[in-house]
Amino acid sequence: YATADLAARSLADHIAALIRSRDAEGRPTVLGLATGSTPVRLYRQLIRLHREEHLSFKNVITFNLDEYYGLSRSHSESYWRFMQEQLFTHIDIRSGNIHLPDGTVSRGEVFSSCRKYEEQIVAAGGLDLQVLGIGRTGHIGFNEPGSTRDSRTRLVTLDQLTRRDAARDFLGEANVPRHAITMGVGTILSAKEIVLLAWGTGKAEVIARAVEDPANDSLPASFLQGHPRIRFLIDESAASLLT
Ligand code: F6R
Repeated sequence: YATADLAARSLADHIAALIRSRDAEGRPTVLGLATGSTPVRLYRQLIRLHREEHLSFKNVITFNLDEYYGLSRSHSESYWRFMQEQLFTHIDIRSGNIHLPDGTVSRGEVFSSCRKYEEQIVAAGGLDLQVLGIGRTGHIGFNEPGSTRDSRTRLVTLDQLTRRDAARDFLGEANVPRHAITMGVGTILSAKEIVLLAWGTGKAEVIARAVEDPANDSLPASFLQGHPRIRFLIDESAASLLT
């Protein structure tokens, strides 16, 4: 796409069509959502479609990719709060249909909490569409290098580069949590359709590697190559190193 806004508009239209066709069939739409700066443009477009074109999210169920471990929902940098501010409070989604991994569970409860998250996705009918960003380490969700193709929702340690990239938001690297709970690569690959978004030259190198290197665990986004319905929607700067 010539610009990130055009890409975001195109995906918002696609999601609107998906929701409307599912509504017509009397079935809910299950969306996997991402946080970070990349999907903000998409969320703005979805809010616009809700306001201007009566797109309803009453029958939409959402599952977010990840949450920092140890942050309360009310923390200014929690992904729970991010989603409320960037999308959920602006649309008519039912609060009971919103799911994020619980970053507040004790260590002893992490395993059962992650298993429950996987079970909730299955009980909802599976992810119809998963939206992704990509980190400069090649992470999707918080699946850092070393994550396996069949990994599932779990507690992970954040890469140093990921923590450095988050330092500004947390007013210093020392304040960035060391751990997060993330859907696994296998969880993401179980979605019926996946759309990865990336904007700007800062993502150009990782996009080229994700698309052109053989799939391998040193760059988890490369595992997306094996999915039957994967698209990368990127702007010209993020595409600048593709050969
Ligand atoms: C966010 C997530 C991460 C981000 C990635 C890019 O839920 O799972 O993988 O998508 O770190 O972040 P931004 O968009 O801020 O560059």
